[in-house]
Amino acid sequence: MKEIYLNGEFVAESEARVSVFDRGFLFADGVYEAIPVYHRIPFLFDRHYKRLCGSLEAIGIPFPMNEQEWMRVFRRLLDSTPSENASIYIQVTRGTQHPRQHAPADNMTPTVLVTVSPMELPEQLASPVKIEPVEDIRWLRCDIKSISLLGNILLKQEAMKHGAAEPLLHRAGRVTEGAACNYFIVEQEQLRTPPADQLILSGITREWVIELARKAGMKVSEEAFSLAEVYNADECFLTSSTREIVPVTQAGEHQIGNGKPGPVTKRLAELFRAQRPQ
Ligand code: PDD
Repeated sequence: MKEIYLNGEFVAESEARVSVFDRGFLFADGVYEAIPVYHRIPFLFDRHYKRLCGSLEAIGIPFPMNEQEWMRVFRRLLDSTPSENASIYIQVTRGTQHPRQHAPADNMTPTVLVTVSPMELPEQLASPVKIEPVEDIRWLRCDIKSISLLGNILLKQEAMKHGAAEPLLHRAGRVTEGAACNYFIVEQEQLRTPPADQLILSGITREWVIELARKAGMKVSEEAFSLAEVYNADECFLTSSTREIVPVTQAGEHQIGNGKPGPVTKRLAELFRAQRPQ
């Protein structure tokens, strides 16, 4: 029997129930986190916790648990999970309110959900992917990890129609991110990634890769770049908690570099693997 955590209780997945008047269900009024687990150890949880608190604060939901309390919930769920490597999903909505109305009531009790799913590890360098340039139609607070993901889903679908794994999102030619990942390009062995402003989700993997690269003596700039700069880059890769570092070798009709994962991408993927819990 697979258990999940819902509002203070551990319950069988098939028994878990949330009200149809939950504001998460009616308005997508909530935030989430996805945390990778290696050998049963949540990776970089302090950073995910900080980002969760930032998202909750941004939309005015009180923090339901402190860092230690979240860890206790994870421990119990991970103890009953067969997989060594997993991803933890946290969702916090503003709570249940009846009847449906846009304005949130005062002093609502947030709905808190935690689930654990198995995660496949890219043991070798992940297979390279194609990305597709698509205009970023989302709202202007992409820094909040909101459960309102309709924009991301439509953009992902659009990319998939072109046989791509992810959209290369841009606003008037200025690159932002993917539907569920951040991007880096490499030019003459230097890394560039768009700045962590309100147009992107500041990825924990993005931040970690920047630190790894700088420690290894590479130059990293957090500066906006254009679609054309992606097409002309020596290398490109995407990052996310569940995918780590994935080489990008094609963007739309353009081959990137020589069409194979480049040396900087490979080196960073190795550094990443060496640093995650063994
Ligand atoms: N998504 N940008 C967006 C829009 C994302 O949804 C994600 C991650 C990222 C990368 O962030 P991080 O490195 O912290 O995972 C960037 C997760 C994996 C998800 O939606 O499941």
